[in-house]
Amino acid sequence: MKTDRQMKELWFKFFSEHGFKRIESASIIPENDPTVLFTTAGMHPLVPYLLGEKHPAGNKIFDVQRCIRTSDIDEVGDDSHLTFFEMLGNWYLGSCPKEEMVKLSYEFLTNKEYLGIPVDRLAVTVFAGDEVAPRDDETAKAWIDCGVKKENVFFLHDNWWALGGGVGPCGPDSEMFLDTGKPKCSENCSPACNCGKYIEIWNDVFMQYKVENAGEKAQKLARPNIDTGMGLERAVLVLNGSQSVYDTGCLKRVIDFIDSKANVKYLEDEKSKRAYRIITDHLRSSAFILGDYRGVTPSNLGQGYILRRFIRRSVNCARNIGFDTKFFKDIIDILVDEYQEDYSDLKANRQKIKDELKIEVEKFSKALEEGHKEFDKVIAGIEKHKAFAAKNGEVVENIISGKACFRLYDTFGFPFELTKELASERGYAVDEEGFKKAFEEHQEKSRTASAGVFKGGLADNSYESAKLHTATHLIMAGLRKMFGNQVMQKGSNITPERLRIDFNLDHKMTPEEIATLEKFVNDAIEQGIPVVCEEMSLDEAKHSGAVGVFESRYGQVVKVYSIGDVSKEICGGPHAKNTKDLHHLKIVKEESSSSGVRRIKAVLD
Ligand code: ALA
Repeated sequence: MKTDRQMKELWFKFFSEHGFKRIESASIIPENDPTVLFTTAGMHPLVPYLLGEKHPAGNKIFDVQRCIRTSDIDEVGDDSHLTFFEMLGNWYLGSCPKEEMVKLSYEFLTNKEYLGIPVDRLAVTVFAGDEVAPRDDETAKAWIDCGVKKENVFFLHDNWWALGGGVGPCGPDSEMFLDTGKPKCSENCSPACNCGKYIEIWNDVFMQYKVENAGEKAQKLARPNIDTGMGLERAVLVLNGSQSVYDTGCLKRVIDFIDSKANVKYLEDEKSKRAYRIITDHLRSSAFILGDYRGVTPSNLGQGYILRRFIRRSVNCARNIGFDTKFFKDIIDILVDEYQEDYSDLKANRQKIKDELKIEVEKFSKALEEGHKEFDKVIAGIEKHKAFAAKNGEVVENIISGKACFRLYDTFGFPFELTKELASERGYAVDEEGFKKAFEEHQEKSRTASAGVFKGGLADNSYESAKLHTATHLIMAGLRKMFGNQVMQKGSNITPERLRIDFNLDHKMTPEEIATLEKFVNDAIEQGIPVVCEEMSLDEAKHSGAVGVFESRYGQVVKVYSIGDVSKEICGGPHAKNTKDLHHLKIVKEESSSSGVRRIKAVLD
């Protein structure tokens, strides 16, 4: 049985012994890529180097990179899906010695000192070729020369790797699989058929191409590279032959800890097992977001919104299994103890993580309290209606409408399950179909690029907030005009009284700069510019020059809010109708938020 820690140590040892230099994991929040919220792969922070820039550590490097992918968030709780994961990676920058990399991969996978997989149980795939790149016979031959059986080498057309958006460095890849020994599902059984016989452990990408704009044909890179990536948790799961990623290492320690404190046991039933796992996964992601050197705090936008979702969902799950949220801080300790060696910022921010977590948990608990009062009002309303109807000889059933359930969810963060539970305690049923319908309608309306910004009922949708939100767009436009387009929003938080916006900037703003920014926004307000919302595909939005967070879900319809020529952003809204409704903006504070990130607080007066 191997743990994550042991696996990392093997990786570090192997690549240092083979002349590669270790580099630090980059931030979980991409530094120069506004297209996604989080770092999603080991190569992600290395894109400039894969496109030809010189890396300070040389041209043979390796690391372990913290990553978050939220696309499968609803699957978390099963055996294998996680929002946070670590990716082991190694790179040849500026050269592409395929045969050498295949030999290294083979050695790491099969040598008993490392993973010790018997060669008979190793299967690999290579690129079958298309009009851009030829069939990769060279790599196939290299595998066979190493000792992989010819029948275990599969040529596939899908073996092409690129980042989510399809733009940037890319190329044919060669994936490595463990043959589980299950019988073939058909004569054509291969790693492509997903029948469970073959499980992927590692991927070598031969990054010899690049795509400059979405949809364009790949062109050859002047300086090709090799990029490899192994999802750590998954690899450990496969190698251990375990059932789930929660069976070993620190995830298991967290599960065991919860089990020692909760009222409902881990293995009581599927529902509680899921709740334990969601808490474990989501608190780990939260710790990494809050503890990152570019960390953000919970908000209603971008990364801050996802973080808020992670924390609130953990609170709900804790409630379901009778686990007191006061123990969240102990889980943070387990996690920081595990990861501090590889992520020094996590170690430095141990207390900050706990403090911010506590604040958000308390905020949410307060909202839930309000929700309880609202729930009582809903019941009182139905009772009143019943009494009135009874006078006319009519009968009103004890059902809470889908709309009311949705309002509890949307405005008070009340999980549907909770409404259902409380309703049944009072002898009421709930209109589940109606709730689903209201939920879907709302989702449709607020589907945005940044993974549901303002979705899920956490936002204050009052017109005051809408105006502050429009002011935030104007501030961003001003900042970008003054300091350049590399300035991006790093977080935002709006209360009915004020706005707060975080953005990357390398210096403290001078009083003159603050005055210029204020003037820029107030000029736009005075001009009385209408705020226009258009819906378009994410691709169209990107091409239209809209600023925004392009989470890697393409083909999706997004809202783009334009304020004349001043600002154009992908955003879920809501916004003021016209800038004149904002009256006047006053910046009340400019301060540091974290390293390289400044924070502005402003009010409308
Ligand atoms: N970049 C490749 C991946 O993430 C190695 O699979």
